[in-house]
Amino acid sequence: MLSGKRLLVSGVATSDSIAAVVVERALRAGAEVLVAAYPRDVPAAQEVLSALAAPPAVVALDATSEGDLSALEEDLRRRWGRLDGALHAIAFAPRAALASVMDTPAGDVEMAMRTSVWTYAAFGRLLRRLAPPSGASLVGLDFDSARAWPVYNWMGPCKAALRSLNGYLARDLGATGVRANLVAAGPLRTRAASGIPDFEVLVDRWNRQAPLAWDPTDASSVADAICFLLSDLARAITGEVLHVDGGAHAMATCLEVPPVEMQATS
Ligand SMILES: NC(=O)c1ccc[n+]([C@@H]2O[C@H](COP(=O)([O-])OP(=O)(O)OC[C@H]3O[C@@H](n4cnc5c(N)ncnc54)[C@H](O)[C@@H]3O)[C@@H](O)[C@H]2O)c1
Repeated sequence: MLSGKRLLVSGVATSDSIAAVVVERALRAGAEVLVAAYPRDVPAAQEVLSALAAPPAVVALDATSEGDLSALEEDLRRRWGRLDGALHAIAFAPRAALASVMDTPAGDVEMAMRTSVWTYAAFGRLLRRLAPPSGASLVGLDFDSARAWPVYNWMGPCKAALRSLNGYLARDLGATGVRANLVAAGPLRTRAASGIPDFEVLVDRWNRQAPLAWDPTDASSVADAICFLLSDLARAITGEVLHVDGGAHAMATCLEVPPVEMQATS
């Protein structure tokens, strides 16, 4: 499915990382892959990928740094001369931004937005400059941001902004044949998830609400959907948010307790 594609994959930190599973599936589907890991995570990414038959190269990237982004663009130009697709699997929010919304210092929100949202536009810019005439595909990762969760806090507005940005990137990249799509994944036990206080509330919600069984330790269904969006099979899809969440997003919320007015009449 990805034969001949040269892909940039960000976000490999542990073997549980969604991006680590994407690398494995994309290589199996015939792609050439370059992994860009956060500088501190480079040794861990190399270790995780060393289990593969042909481990891809890993370069350091702090995606919030214009200098690092320029160096990556130069590297890709020299290495391949083009880029057919990129996975943006990057998110970060300081502890205070994950613990509340109203008591969070502005600087922490700025860091969360810059890391989790602005960098997606930076990846779009990279693809606009490096895409071949046949076009390219940008994929990012969303968590259902249509509703307020009992947990998640500033990462919710970050994902809502990412979703909005996805439409604008689709608008601005379309003329160069570059597509921009998000995969809205159900909860998966990764390092990023472990930083979210009370993450198990989300897993519990999925257990009760998803019509299909949802395994929070298995990112392969999400990785397969990402590979599809990176492939030519998705050539007419852009500005889309594809839910890979066992169907939970399509269900009405299960109320634990009847609303107050119903209690009064029962
Ligand atoms: N785990 C879930 O339940 C879930 C659900 C939906 C969406 N997502 C999204 O999936 C994406 C990948 O997260 P994950 O769950 O695989 O966790 P993860 O912790 O394995 O991956 C997050 C990655 O972001 C990278 N990162 C953070 N700051 C960076 C920076 N400045 N520059 C470059 N890289 C940086 C980290 O190094 C790490 O590799 C994130 O966007 C996350 O919000 C996760």
